Amino acid sequence: MAEGESGVVRTYDENTVVIFDTTLRDGEQSPGATLSSAEKLEIARQLARLGVDVIEAGFPAASPDDLRAVQRIAREVGTPDGPRICGLARAVEGDIRTCWEGVREAAKPRIHTFLGTSPMHLAMLNITQEEGLERIRRAVTLARSLCEDVEFSPMDAGRTDMDYLIKACAVAVECGARTLNIPDTVGYVTPAEWEEKIATLIAETPGAGKGSGVIWSVHCHNDLGMATANTLAGIRAGARQVEVTINGIGERAGNTSLEEVVMAIHTRQSVFNVRTNIDTTQIIKTSRMVSNYMGMPVQPNKAIVGANAFAHESGIHQDGVLKNAETFEIMTPESVGLNQSRLTLGKLSGRHALKVRLKELGYDVDGEQLQKVFVRFKALADSKKVVTDADLEALVADEVVEVKEFFRLGDVQVTCGTMGMPTATIKLVDGEGHAHIHAAVGVGPVDAAYRAIDAIVHAPNTLVEYSVHSVTEGIDALGEVTVRITPPDSPRTFGGYGAHSDVIVASVKAYLAALNRMIAALGHGSVVPEGDAATVGVKSKSQSSL
Ligand code: KIV
Ligand code: ZN
Repeated sequence: MAEGESGVVRTYDENTVVIFDTTLRDGEQSPGATLSSAEKLEIARQLARLGVDVIEAGFPAASPDDLRAVQRIAREVGTPDGPRICGLARAVEGDIRTCWEGVREAAKPRIHTFLGTSPMHLAMLNITQEEGLERIRRAVTLARSLCEDVEFSPMDAGRTDMDYLIKACAVAVECGARTLNIPDTVGYVTPAEWEEKIATLIAETPGAGKGSGVIWSVHCHNDLGMATANTLAGIRAGARQVEVTINGIGERAGNTSLEEVVMAIHTRQSVFNVRTNIDTTQIIKTSRMVSNYMGMPVQPNKAIVGANAFAHESGIHQDGVLKNAETFEIMTPESVGLNQSRLTLGKLSGRHALKVRLKELGYDVDGEQLQKVFVRFKALADSKKVVTDADLEALVADEVVEVKEFFRLGDVQVTCGTMGMPTATIKLVDGEGHAHIHAAVGVGPVDAAYRAIDAIVHAPNTLVEYSVHSVTEGIDALGEVTVRITPPDSPRTFGGYGAHSDVIVASVKAYLAALNRMIAALGHGSVVPEGDAATVGVKSKSQSSL
């Protein structure tokens, strides 16, 4: 039992389900979900406050940046009382050694190595089943020579035949793996067959049954919308680790969502008879942070964390809930941290009070960053009666997170309405402090503003998603905008987030954030030479006439 920096008390027994969070690894593989290393660190800190047992911090061999981000999380979040810090590695020597470099400074490091075991994956690797077993043997043995805590995953286990799966798991255990993670990589299985598969594996894998000390884990994808159900079926079969992500983000249709599994366990105690170390009151905060930093809005009807998850619209429902909340509520909003807490700071409150409140919300903001948030807070407190915690979180996500700025917004001015052509004038400041001003006409003010930016910044892209919503209710609410752009001839997408009480300013900030990320990742993007910029065109940049 240990008291962590976050105040989370972690206890373990055979009825504890280990929560392995892979938001920063599998989640970051979502299209457009690139994070800076500062953002990853902030999310890792929040995951520690949430009480996850293991953080899969990244795939260190993927790039030097990934390695550095994992190292930083290992050092700063992987404290003796904090979560285990894990890195992913293919079953090849180079990956495993680099992974160890990533996690070794954590108090509790873990190497997670994997190899595809289904007929399709063996064919892709061009190896036989026997060669597969040999690779597992070498990989796990090497990983164990470096790190005491090793996890092995037979990738695409959902489509791997049982005999071979048992052999693969048995080899991994024989070579020292202490966690066997069974992934349904392509989201193919159904709950009943998954429960049976996991139960059979636990019963029949030599050296890995009950009492062996081996922890069985499940890792499900959501292609058929069954990830949560499959994960819960895995728990019923005896799995005591689940691999999950915040908001269910991940490749394609995503991974199992942490909040759904945890709240199912919590709400249906008598069905599952297990517990977790999660502080459920941190769920909403974590969800918002991940959504804001990744530029991935949460669908309003998403279980647990969607904006409508606790909203009661119809008269009958409202009446019922007012008389007795349990009539239509199986969980309280407070249990997931949705307590509508209102900031009691007023217009006259100082920096210190703001800093203390941000700290309570889990954001350690100081110096120049605090000053930036303070200026925005004052402006908002002037125009809005109540500044909520959600408003503050949006301001922090917008101002604090370090995205290298090749271009930042100087000023924006738009004219629009029914009487003329929507026109935007934009002033951008480049990395050397030079200002660039352009005006453009569009089908709406956002379109015009984006076209003016494109006329200044040469970084060709297509806007594939633009979404806007308000952080809180009311006409004076902060507007949040997320955008996704994709460069030509590349499947990659880059997200950006902006928050402001003026939705045009929020839109411009979001687009610039996405452009800055794209330029940082691809290494190109420049100022359009004077005279080359097209200010009026016919093709709409944005997908609406905003
Ligand atoms: O889905 C999957 O199979 C994975 C493995 C690397 C565990 O993410
Ligand atoms: Zn996965």
